[in-house]
Amino acid sequence: MSTVTPLTSALDQRLRHAIATALPEAGDTDPQVRPSEHADFQADGILPLARPLRANPRQLATTVAAALGAEDPATDELIARCEVSGPGFLNLTLADTAIWRQVAARLAAPRLGIPASDSGNVTVIDYSQPNIAKQMHVGHLRSTIIGDALVRILEFTGTKVIRQNHLGDWGTQFGMLIQYLFEQPDLRAAAPEHETGAAAISRLTTLYQQARQRFETDPAFVERARRRVVDLQAGDPETLAAWQELVDESKIYFNDVYQRLGVLLTDDDAVGESFYNPMLRETADDLEQRGVAVRSDGALCVFFDDIRGPDGNPSPLIVQKRDGGFGYAATDLAAIRHRVATLGATRILYVVDARQALHFRMVFEAARRAGYLPDTVQAVHVTFGSVLGPDGRPFKTRAGQSVQLISLLTEAVDRARHTVAGKNPDLAPAELDERAHQVGIGAVKYADLSTGRTRDYVFDLDRMVSLQGNTGVYLQYAHARIRSILRKLPDGTDAGGIDPAVAMEPAERALALHLDALPAIIDTTTATLEPHRLAGHLYAIAQAFTTFYDTCPVLKAPTTAIRDNRLALCQLTSDTLKLGLDLLGIASPHQL
Ligand code: ARG
Repeated sequence: MSTVTPLTSALDQRLRHAIATALPEAGDTDPQVRPSEHADFQADGILPLARPLRANPRQLATTVAAALGAEDPATDELIARCEVSGPGFLNLTLADTAIWRQVAARLAAPRLGIPASDSGNVTVIDYSQPNIAKQMHVGHLRSTIIGDALVRILEFTGTKVIRQNHLGDWGTQFGMLIQYLFEQPDLRAAAPEHETGAAAISRLTTLYQQARQRFETDPAFVERARRRVVDLQAGDPETLAAWQELVDESKIYFNDVYQRLGVLLTDDDAVGESFYNPMLRETADDLEQRGVAVRSDGALCVFFDDIRGPDGNPSPLIVQKRDGGFGYAATDLAAIRHRVATLGATRILYVVDARQALHFRMVFEAARRAGYLPDTVQAVHVTFGSVLGPDGRPFKTRAGQSVQLISLLTEAVDRARHTVAGKNPDLAPAELDERAHQVGIGAVKYADLSTGRTRDYVFDLDRMVSLQGNTGVYLQYAHARIRSILRKLPDGTDAGGIDPAVAMEPAERALALHLDALPAIIDTTTATLEPHRLAGHLYAIAQAFTTFYDTCPVLKAPTTAIRDNRLALCQLTSDTLKLGLDLLGIASPHQL
């Protein structure tokens, strides 16, 4: 494998070795290498050894520095300088040659030298999860965008990922919808062959609103709708066919949104609640037999000592309602069994709104008690915060309705068209459309992914499509600018040849070290499941590039060797930004 060891890891190894040699009684010690203001890095890990070793920390640091054998910059490949500072830290400066070699190595290696390791683990990820016959709301948007980024990042690092779009495609509301569909055949026949997503959802919304209206005002209809639920449960062919129509129609809409967003989800990933319907009775019986669930007031419930309602009474997870119906929780329990036993999950991620935290806590705990979730399998609720309107309240239209996702995305693309056209007044319309799409969708995704997952954020399109600040456009622009520098290369010059003997400017150094930190950032992102860590690092790279480009002329560099080294840095920056944006699911056009 052409893995390139990050410089910090090489430094870490050298320091560990030096500590072990100089202070054998300290055992294996983490040198705690981190970026520093005073040098490239500092090591903080020696100071805490002073107390257990009953020694002066500065003296310990001096001993380790000596053992590091870095006092001769002429012979040391990695470290140019090591100084004791403060109460007992080491300030470490890397050799310019080591940094240039690192740039060359990453450029030459596939995947920038970042390893993928197949741990044999299987991660099932449950995300997007819109509901049939209903608008997708901004919560589904967040789940879709975050889930998609996590899938891309995990797959890149070698994890086997199984995508599950847990569609809300089952439940008593289908009795009402299907019954109304039968009673209003014109609503049904209206579905044309090649319907757009917008037309599909508008038809479904009409159906939903009218059906609900009738349901709320006509008791005889309520009774017919209830019987329709029984037909659906019993698998009556005519009823099932109508249900399937609703599902197919909704998928036209969902797929339109997914396609606009450019996410990886396909129809193959759609495993809706209906899929688990045949497993619910058996699961409920099993839970009862194991004593995990008990009858209470006719309902089948799982109780928890520490979960109580506002009145102080225990607030159970309801597996089966008093009327015999199974609901959301039963489905999630059956889904866990299926995911562990059949899909072989070693980890299940649920990318769902923070408001469902209690639900998942109860479901996971019940599944543990029942043995559906063995200790070897992790279940994680990957929570996220709300999307707020400009007034800081949950995002709604002025009329108080929930915002239509398609129009929101269309508006983002329209705004982006302005930004792009402002930069390139002469762009051909087709190209303008394509770039507006890449920029507009990238802006929406980046705004979401660059915000701490659990935080709420304000949906502000003006800010999102701005060229200034921490935005998707800024990053796409930084990438495109570098591509344009590389396009200007005289024929026959190629970006990549590096002379490690060239002295390094501070801005070159800062940029190169940021680029070399990407693998560590990817590790942190997979460990925390927080894409904003990757987004923030890409922003830092773009900023470091700006400083570099302002202070270090590239095509007009004083010597050919300096120019070539700078070109290599440009190339690596562009490749790194492209990889990072890919992992976030954001396009990186060559021109903006
Ligand atoms: N469809 C649900 C909703 O819109 C979210 C489903 C989350 N996933 C799950 N396995 N419960 O709220």
